[in-house]
Amino acid sequence: MFTGRLGVLISGRGSNLQALIDAVADGRLAASIAVVISNREDAEGLERARRAQIEATCVSHRGWHSRDDYDRALVRELERRRVDLVCLAGFMRVLGPAMIDAFPKRILNIHPSLLPAFPGRNAQQQALDCGVKIAGVTVHLVTSEVDGGPIVLQRAVPVLDSDTVETLSARILAEEHRAFPEAVGMLLNEAWAVDGRRFLRHGRVDEALPSRPPAGN
Ligand code: GRF
Repeated sequence: MFTGRLGVLISGRGSNLQALIDAVADGRLAASIAVVISNREDAEGLERARRAQIEATCVSHRGWHSRDDYDRALVRELERRRVDLVCLAGFMRVLGPAMIDAFPKRILNIHPSLLPAFPGRNAQQQALDCGVKIAGVTVHLVTSEVDGGPIVLQRAVPVLDSDTVETLSARILAEEHRAFPEAVGMLLNEAWAVDGRRFLRHGRVDEALPSRPPAGN
């Protein structure tokens, strides 16, 4: 089976990164994590990666002439490690065309709401403020529209009367940790297609990620 190379981008805690590390380690996800990149030096996720013997590095978003320059620096780091799929695991920067064009339909984001409801920040608080009874998680392909790319997978959780933003976030997060490795596995190892905004799970085989020759060939 094709063992895809992941580049995981983080900004903080890294619990979704941990879910990917664990899924690879226990064989649920046929992939390898080639590199973890944080835009913040103090991101807890960098330590999680290093503990798992995964290369981890900080590429700060500060000090670049433009957002495009920062994106190009990310592309260089990811291409240098021959990354097949980029996973945004709590990466708090909006990606521009330099990244999106370098990895077309090859960037996956996880968002703590049932998109298109509650895009952007504080999705769980937005859900409480709107009084919805069902919240959840969305894993989607990244396009130029923030939180608007084709939806790969969604999972719902109930909103309880007793919920605070902390308890709702924790319930969603538990679902995130199952959903993200599952979605990554689908993208790497299944046939799929994109038709407009729709991700079609049983698409044509030619949309599956191409296998790469082993390093050095
Ligand atoms: C998660 O809720 C994810 O959905 C959102 O940012 C948070 C990151 O958490 N995009 P962690 O760093 O993976 O623990």
